[in-house]
Amino acid sequence: MRSDFRFMLATLLWFADAGNAQTTQAVVATDPQAVKANLQKALQDLPEGPGKVLTAVACTRCHNLAGLTAYNGYWNRVQWLAMVENMVKHGAALDASQITAVTDYLNDTYGRRSLQSQQTP
Ligand code: HEC
Repeated sequence: MRSDFRFMLATLLWFADAGNAQTTQAVVATDPQAVKANLQKALQDLPEGPGKVLTAVACTRCHNLAGLTAYNGYWNRVQWLAMVENMVKHGAALDASQITAVTDYLNDTYGRRSLQSQQTP
């Protein structure tokens, strides 16, 4: 917890210093305009599917979702769940059923496809 807080503080200070939200990646956004822009971009960019809007709203409160596609096709559902639970520890406001919905959306959209197809006989 203590190191989390120090990380957040360092990030906030760095963000304040960087000044330009558009050039920053997974950064804790403090500016309502940046949060709004992140949400609009997520609603536009995320593939359609059940849970998309919830994911876009809940997951752009602190940072944009540009980093999400790095795991596209690699993570299985257990790994997506662990990531979502990590975000809840950081402060994402999701109850148990919303955690399930967001995890299902991420797994359905970006789940481990290549390995599944390799496992097909
Ligand atoms: C309360 C703020 C907050 C919210 C809301 C939030 N995150 Fe994060 N996120 C962070 C912080 C802080 C980091 C950097 C530290 C870390 O990776 O654990 C991060 C990092 C990430 C990363 C990069 C992780 C990596 O290992 O490369 C991804 C992907 C991510 N978040 C996705 C999400 C998704 C999906 C949601 C919605 C369920 C979400 N975030 C909601 C604060 C938040």
